[in-house]
Amino acid sequence: MKKFNLALSAAVLTLAATGAQASCESGERVVKFSHVTGGTTHPKVVASNKFADRVNKEMNGKLCVELYPNSTLFGDSKELEALLLGDVQLLAPSLSKFGSYTDKYGVFDLPFIFKDMDHAIRFTQSSEGKELLTEMDEYAGFVGLGYWMSGMKYFSANKKLEVPSDAKGLKFRVQTSDVAKQMISAMGASPQAMSFSEVYGALQTGVVDGQENTWSNIYTKKFFEVQNSVTETNHQLLAYLFMTSSEFLDSLDSSTRAQFMQIANDVTQEANQSVKAKEAANRANILKAGGKINTLTPAQRQEWVDTMKPVWSQFDQYIGKDLVKAAAES
Ligand code: SIN
Repeated sequence: MKKFNLALSAAVLTLAATGAQASCESGERVVKFSHVTGGTTHPKVVASNKFADRVNKEMNGKLCVELYPNSTLFGDSKELEALLLGDVQLLAPSLSKFGSYTDKYGVFDLPFIFKDMDHAIRFTQSSEGKELLTEMDEYAGFVGLGYWMSGMKYFSANKKLEVPSDAKGLKFRVQTSDVAKQMISAMGASPQAMSFSEVYGALQTGVVDGQENTWSNIYTKKFFEVQNSVTETNHQLLAYLFMTSSEFLDSLDSSTRAQFMQIANDVTQEANQSVKAKEAANRANILKAGGKINTLTPAQRQEWVDTMKPVWSQFDQYIGKDLVKAAAES
């Protein structure tokens, strides 16, 4: 990788601000890393930048990671296909976006299954969680390198939400997850699946009334600016599968592969250790920027649990009852 040239054009500096700072030299194998999040304080942005920096420094001359954040190369609907076609080598999609490949990742979407991120991390480190990481290796050619936590999710809407019945009749953007769709229906609201890159515009123009996401996404994508407020429901996890393709991994010689995997593992550990602090900082950033956050009384929170938790019974037979139990009891 050539050193960053200070005389770069404004366009290239914009890329640098989002982390795509590599300029690969001939002879280096280019490794394209596409993802959909943005800003500078988002956990996925920080982790992907860190991964690129380490590979580009420690594997200089062999591999060169180019970053494409903010859906600039591929958005939600195309990125998994692009990985299989070899148009990109690294992704970190939300675990809620694998519904066309496996039912088992639905376990991560079950409302109120994880108390907090520590609970979710314990599950990913259990034998069941580790096994899930390689769930798609055999039949889809995807290789899970690690789980990257993002945060717990919160509802925002164009009106204040305190109890689930406040959401009745509203339309909420969701990821392409059947669990999320049923959860929204259980609230008496309508789910609308949509790519992440379209959410801000859809909230702004009223195509949808609300959405559910982490503090980091709500802050870095400025959703709070076009919503009445965000309610601290803490109802669901958002986590990513940091992944590559078996085709790419198999094409590396064994020492290059081992070094690449070691860096992937180190960055994953580090990302998960610092994710809670990043989420707390982005919550504070929302308040600093004038966004409103509603906290819930224990009785209000219980209403959300009672409304949404029953959707488990619609999915546990597909996910696997043992897997659901293992996650809930981790
Ligand atoms: C992401 O954090 O990668 C996107 C989440 C979403 O689609 O809501």
